[in-house]
Amino acid sequence: MKPQYWFRWFSEHGVPRYAVRAAAKQGDRFAELVGGPTGVSDPYPLIERMRGDGPLQRTRIAWAGFDHDVVRSILRDSRFGVRNPVGFTTPRALQWIKDAAHVPANPVEPPSMLVIDPPEHTRMRKPVASAFTPRAVRKLGDRVEKVTVELLDGLPDDGRTDLIASFASRVPIAIISEMLGFPDSDQDLFLEWGDRMTPLLDIGISWRDYRGAFGAMNVMDGYLRAHIAKLRANPGDDILSTLVSTGDLDDYALAATASLLMGAGFETTVNLIGNGVVQLATHPEQLARLRAEPELWPNAIEEILRIDPPVQTTARTALEDVEVGGVQLRAGATVVVSLAGANRDPAVFTDPDRFDVGRENAREHLTFSNGIHVCLGASLARMEGVFALRSLFERFPDLALDGALRHRQLYTLHGYRALPVRLGHRAPRTVPQPVS
Ligand code: HEM
Repeated sequence: MKPQYWFRWFSEHGVPRYAVRAAAKQGDRFAELVGGPTGVSDPYPLIERMRGDGPLQRTRIAWAGFDHDVVRSILRDSRFGVRNPVGFTTPRALQWIKDAAHVPANPVEPPSMLVIDPPEHTRMRKPVASAFTPRAVRKLGDRVEKVTVELLDGLPDDGRTDLIASFASRVPIAIISEMLGFPDSDQDLFLEWGDRMTPLLDIGISWRDYRGAFGAMNVMDGYLRAHIAKLRANPGDDILSTLVSTGDLDDYALAATASLLMGAGFETTVNLIGNGVVQLATHPEQLARLRAEPELWPNAIEEILRIDPPVQTTARTALEDVEVGGVQLRAGATVVVSLAGANRDPAVFTDPDRFDVGRENAREHLTFSNGIHVCLGASLARMEGVFALRSLFERFPDLALDGALRHRQLYTLHGYRALPVRLGHRAPRTVPQPVS
């Protein structure tokens, strides 16, 4: 790999990596949260200790906010953006070398809508938004149900399986892949690229992980451009074909959008399903309640999203001097906002560490973020979550965890790499129920 890429890694991740390590050694709890083993496996006790230090705190790495009110107001405030306006993290000389590296289209760099501010953000988001309205998503219900049922039918008869590999990752990848017009046979490729690229969301990843992610991005970029060329010649009935035919976005922007939708479409929902299995399997009384009151399933999904969010955190940068949570921030200050922290704020959620599928205000969680970057796929994720988890526990009523759970070694995306279960006896298929 060319030296420019090493410089990109050094300025974006290498410097923060060493800063996080040094801060963790000096006892900085936030550094431990984003860079230590605790942040990966069980971040919640550490988050609670940090909450005690105030709604917005200066850590050695960045400002950090854990309370619902502060997190929500920052996400909704147009004086904050997702781009760093001052570019203070990269010295000028390095910036020049860094810019010389060709960056393949990818979800975490412009023009991906996730990391750009208005007015470009509006231009990139608007054409995609119509495919994800609650109405458009309801129309996908039959498809989600069919995929779920087929996957459950295919689970092994010996009753043991890793549910991440055999089910939780398969439902969302099948749906988003079809929505974007990719052949089913390429789903494994996307799972592999996604796995290699997701570390990019974390702070201070290793050169090895960065190189792996960049390699995957390069291959995926080539694949997406070839796919877009095919759709240009022979459009189908999918979101990408619609975007290609309107002609508003060039190929680079189209490829960035496709890679974002692919990544966001399954790398998060897999964790909703996986984390949901763990919550329900370890809280049999909540599962019993869902059996008695199946109309609670949609609320149970909100509670799973609240208590163990697949995306733990995001960040914003102050675009001007601004006061928030009683603290004066200078333009250019970066604030890491903890969605997981907001979701367990005792000022909003009574007894926040308790998993309660009947919790009345579970939906006030911030797991899908808020403001202009609020998750475009929230309705789809909710629908997939209800179908997948309800059908799984109805088909396999005795399902139980079986052996050690392995976390993904990531801080931003929270979920399991492997989820071994014993399925127990297989109940007959039930008549599909409406999900909301
Ligand atoms: C449980 C599943 C999901 C979770 C927890 C989740 C979470 C999030 C979060 C937290 C953000 C905003 C980040 C920020 O504010 O900086 C986001 C943005 C986004 N999500 Fe999701 N997501 C999920 C599923 C999906 C699905 C299924 C799709 C679509 C296929 C999707 C597409 C997007 C897109 C396109 C954005 C960028 C929106 C923008 O920047 O304007 N997500 N998601």
